[in-house]
Amino acid sequence: MYKLNCIGILTSGGDAPGMNAAIRSVTRAAIFNHIRVKAIYRGYKGLITGEIKEFHTEDVSNIIQRGGTILKTARCQEFTTPEGRKIAYETMVREEIDALVVIGGDGTFTGARIFAQEYNVPIVGLPGTIDNDLCGTDSTIGYDTALNTIVEAVDKIRDTANSHERLFFVEVMGRDAGFLALNSALASGAEAAIIPEEQTNEEQLEELIKNGFRKSKNSSIVIVAEGGGGATALAERMKRDYPTFDARVTILGHLQRGGTPTAYDRIIASRMGVAAIDALLDEQRSVMVGLVHDELVLVPFTKAIKDDKPINKSKIGVLQILSI
Ligand code: F6P
Repeated sequence: MYKLNCIGILTSGGDAPGMNAAIRSVTRAAIFNHIRVKAIYRGYKGLITGEIKEFHTEDVSNIIQRGGTILKTARCQEFTTPEGRKIAYETMVREEIDALVVIGGDGTFTGARIFAQEYNVPIVGLPGTIDNDLCGTDSTIGYDTALNTIVEAVDKIRDTANSHERLFFVEVMGRDAGFLALNSALASGAEAAIIPEEQTNEEQLEELIKNGFRKSKNSSIVIVAEGGGGATALAERMKRDYPTFDARVTILGHLQRGGTPTAYDRIIASRMGVAAIDALLDEQRSVMVGLVHDELVLVPFTKAIKDDKPINKSKIGVLQILSI
């Protein structure tokens, strides 16, 4: 049995709604199991600079409903270097931190995997990213909230699109993943979704929009995943080829990352936080807690960060049928 008297917790990478619910859950589950908790600020940067504070149950009161992360977050360049990780390890030893719970996305787990290997540190991850691009989990903490935020925004764009009889390209986040784009397109009744997992057939898209306008529609909305030029480039090409389209672009940007987490995100964050402490007590290491068919699972970091999370492409067919 290895020593587990004290854990460190941090959030890293892009923030995601529900991270606070996860911090609360990890902290309370640890204390419930008589394990001390040290909060590390600004992600891996805090491990290097020593920005650390002991957490008690009251430190995580009244945060379950708050967006962002009370621990702050950062993308830490220094931690990608062996020198940076050495300082981080020295901080852990000094602070008597036996294991880490890291909440973040693929960058966070990539760093965790290397650090765990180099210094034999037990680390368990929680998937915290709006992108939903981690393998081995049906959903990541923050994805559901971001999806709902997008749908609410598109509903509003629809009002003005309709009044002006315009075509709107709405760009959503997701780095190299189309989960937010495809599912928000379905939920908001958009004509199409342009996602990185599927080659864009621009002729087909133009045809679809033209037909829509020719028939009953007086406005159209296309959701575009960021990357690959994004919505602006696509709109430019469409305007060049079809000058008659009155096209506009809306980039939703970072508003997608903010806001009160949905009930779903709070629930999975709470369950995953408890599971992270159970996993550490069970001497698991270098694994992410995932959720598959509503059951908690442990996924090795190496698998979680693979780039090939499958997206259900049958949804594209549903979109096409519904956009006639
Ligand atoms: O990974 C989360 C995410 O919001 C991506 O969807 C997006 O590409 C990226 O972070 C933006 O990062 P930043 O806030 O550092 O610009």
